[in-house]
Amino acid sequence: MPNEDFIVGLEIGTSKVCAVVAEGRPDGTVKINGVGYAPSRGVRKGEIVDFETAGKCVREALADAEEKSDIMIGSVYLAVSGGHIESFNNRGLVNIPPEREEICEDDFEEVQAAAREVSIPPPNQFLHSVLQHYYVDGQDGVLNPIGMMGTALEADFHIIHGVGTRIKNSIRCVKELDIEVEDVVFGPLASAQVVLDMDQKNQGALVIDVGAGTTGYVVYADGAVKHSGCLAVGGDHITNDLSLGLRIPMARAEKLKTEEGSVRLGRSSPGERVVLKDETGFAGKEIEREMLNTIIHCRVRETFELVKKRLDESGASMDFLGAGVQLTGGSSTMVGIDELAQEIFGLPVHLTCVKGTMSGPTNAFDNPQYSCAIGVVKYAHAMTAGIRRPGLFRRIARRIPFFNNLL
Ligand SMILES: Nc1ncnc2c1ncn2[C@@H]1O[C@H](COP(=O)(O)OP(=O)(O)OP(=O)(O)O)[C@@H](O)[C@H]1O
Ligand SMILES: [Mg+2]
Repeated sequence: MPNEDFIVGLEIGTSKVCAVVAEGRPDGTVKINGVGYAPSRGVRKGEIVDFETAGKCVREALADAEEKSDIMIGSVYLAVSGGHIESFNNRGLVNIPPEREEICEDDFEEVQAAAREVSIPPPNQFLHSVLQHYYVDGQDGVLNPIGMMGTALEADFHIIHGVGTRIKNSIRCVKELDIEVEDVVFGPLASAQVVLDMDQKNQGALVIDVGAGTTGYVVYADGAVKHSGCLAVGGDHITNDLSLGLRIPMARAEKLKTEEGSVRLGRSSPGERVVLKDETGFAGKEIEREMLNTIIHCRVRETFELVKKRLDESGASMDFLGAGVQLTGGSSTMVGIDELAQEIFGLPVHLTCVKGTMSGPTNAFDNPQYSCAIGVVKYAHAMTAGIRRPGLFRRIARRIPFFNNLL
């Protein structure tokens, strides 16, 4: 079957590559046709470090997705991530010429360009300009300024940017396989599209996607993206800490972490031990459970504290996040992680994966590892189909394209 009517979302993650084939419906819902998966190699901290090896893994995941969905993939929307991705908020202003009475669509382009007239570090390129709010002659709360009378249109944007060459490397990795990249999406922003519904975006929420090599975050308030960013730290760092601290091989440390690990302290009986059986090349070992959990706890605490520090420094208010913290990504399945997040952020915490307007014969919705790739599909559908919701969303969808001059 040809793929023109399908959207493919791709995440080249640090631990896995995931490709989601979906069909966008005119009512805004998305039906998943198949999810392809391959373990990832050649990726570190969310960035490509071995082009050829990563390419093979992408090929494998795409082939798996093609088989599961019975669709030939010709192009994808690609999630990008990494510690180099930064953001800020800025306001653009455009004066409406006196001979013209009303604000038109071109003014929107201009106000967006004006908001980008800000210097970013030389190697960086703009990734997204996400509209937050409009003001017409100082009046706020304007949902759609097109057609309104006014002399000045202002708009606040959340601007996301990152090192151009690193983003291009991810794109090239896909293009080398003769697959087009329709556009790129900041991974945590994609995850937020499926773990939050519109009400939660309006109430305010902090979404944290804790992956293998990165921890990405997005803050929504009043229905708009207020802050976002990414730390180059994730579950792999916990595994590495365990391997070094307990002097066990990485593969054993990963198994120990996922099968026995917890961030909860003081819950094990004194002297309680976990037995690691001997196997080829490993003599076996007994590990004190409290030591295991302490190592995990310290790394997760440090990661969340870093996110909190970043948000505090950016001036993000945590007081109005009515929908609390929504944790997703593979490492969000770590036992007790929600309690620790609650302590650090001082907000209710929910472990979450895909919800809402998605359907299809797959159990991927229940796996937080797939939030990002499924989110890419949802985001791409909203942006390309455009006419999804009346009012603000519709306008945003039609007027703010993905930033595709990196392609
Ligand atoms: N039960 C579990 N307990 C703790 N950690 C887990 C568990 N299951 C999976 N993980 C961790 O989740 C991580 C993988 O998550 P995910 O698939 O979201 O990462 P990724 O998308 O490949 O990486 P990134 O987005 O950071 O590049 C791994 O570090 C893995 O160890
Ligand atoms: Mg990920």
